[in-house]
Amino acid sequence: MQQKSRAFLKWAGGKYSLVENINARLNQASKHADTLVEPFVGAGSVFLNSDFKHYILNDINADLINLYKELKSSPDELISDAKKLFVDLNNHADAYYEYRVQFNQSRDVYERSILFLYMNRHGYNGLCRYNLKGIFNVPFGKYKKPYFPEKEMYFFV
Ligand SMILES: C[S@@+](CC[C@H](N)C(=O)[O-])C[C@H]1O[C@@H](n2cnc3c(N)ncnc32)[C@H](O)[C@@H]1O
Repeated sequence: MQQKSRAFLKWAGGKYSLVENINARLNQASKHADTLVEPFVGAGSVFLNSDFKHYILNDINADLINLYKELKSSPDELISDAKKLFVDLNNHADAYYEYRVQFNQSRDVYERSILFLYMNRHGYNGLCRYNLKGIFNVPFGKYKKPYFPEKEMYFFV
């Protein structure tokens, strides 16, 4: 297998470390099928490292899927706007909690997508958790310098 590609999101239960084993089997299948269906795509480590002609990707998390759709439809714009949030000034609890409120109050898919990515890298352990009312409630992560996954986002599109 050529060099593995990392997903641009941190995601609990990601299959990055199992990709060689999973894809050894999938690549056999890809000789007979041209579409990979991923009903639980998560951050996408498996599909990103597979070689199918077509992909059908699904996940119950609407913020995740909306981010993928927004990134696909305007990659340069989204990457450039998201990058602006990855500055030292925004790597503080106060800033994080303000952006978290903004995310929870927003119904704008593009705005939510950018903030979702920011919180994925600045929140605790890259967790994605909502309360029963659908409010995102992951605390600040206290990372020294959160990584902006530009290269991985361009690979995704
Ligand atoms: C462990 S992650 C998937 C890992 C991924 N296949 C990879 O390549 O690394 C599991 C995903 O399943 C999604 N999920 C859980 N229940 C679901 C459901 N009923 N329908 C669709 N997606 C679901 C979660 O939102 C989560 O993103």
